[in-house]
Amino acid sequence: MSVGFSISYLSSNCHMWLLLSLALFHLCVSDQKSHDALCMEGERQALIRFKHDLIDEADRLASWAGEKSDCCKWVGIVCNNITGHVREIHLTGPYIGDAVTYKEMKELLKQRLGGHLSSSLLELKQLEYLDLSCNDFNWIQIPGFIGSLGKLRCLNLSESNFGEMIPPQIV
Ligand SMILES: *[C@@H]1O[C@H](CO)[C@@H](O)[C@H](O)[C@H]1NC(C)=O
Ligand SMILES: *[C@@H]1O[C@H](CO)[C@@H](O)[C@H](O)[C@H]1NC(C)=O
Repeated sequence: MSVGFSISYLSSNCHMWLLLSLALFHLCVSDQKSHDALCMEGERQALIRFKHDLIDEADRLASWAGEKSDCCKWVGIVCNNITGHVREIHLTGPYIGDAVTYKEMKELLKQRLGGHLSSSLLELKQLEYLDLSCNDFNWIQIPGFIGSLGKLRCLNLSESNFGEMIPPQIV
């Protein structure tokens, strides 16, 4: 498996990163595409469990709810438009350097996701793309199960405050 992996060494020091991010212009935008297929029930449940283990202070994942809801329409989710399998998860956080005032910065910081990554992601057998960059995972280690996502082509955990150790399963 080949995984496009990037962890910013700047992010090893959160404070320093904040200062640098104020100085650098660097965009973090999410790229959401349209989709038609309905999502699989098992994958919907896996995403609900994934959400459950996340801290989402700003309620960015408000659309991730409902027994009958089509998870292919949830914020950040891209499904294969034929099979309906979840193919991509785009949950990039805000770019803090856009803040002008302290209040704006606090609002942006609130939008960063935290918590833990649930191994329920393993249910997403067709997942190719996972972008959790620019969030704040409080220096937890990157869980080894990520290496078992067989179809994963792109994993972006840059500037997301994950621990420095990259599990051997991933490399
Ligand atoms: C990873 O995320 C950062 C921040 O969102 C972005 O600038 C960078 O281009 C991404 N890297 C890849 C390989 O997609
Ligand atoms: C389905 O997805 C493929 C690849 O992402 C795209 O090229 C195609 O236009 C899409 N088809 C429809 C009907 O949206």
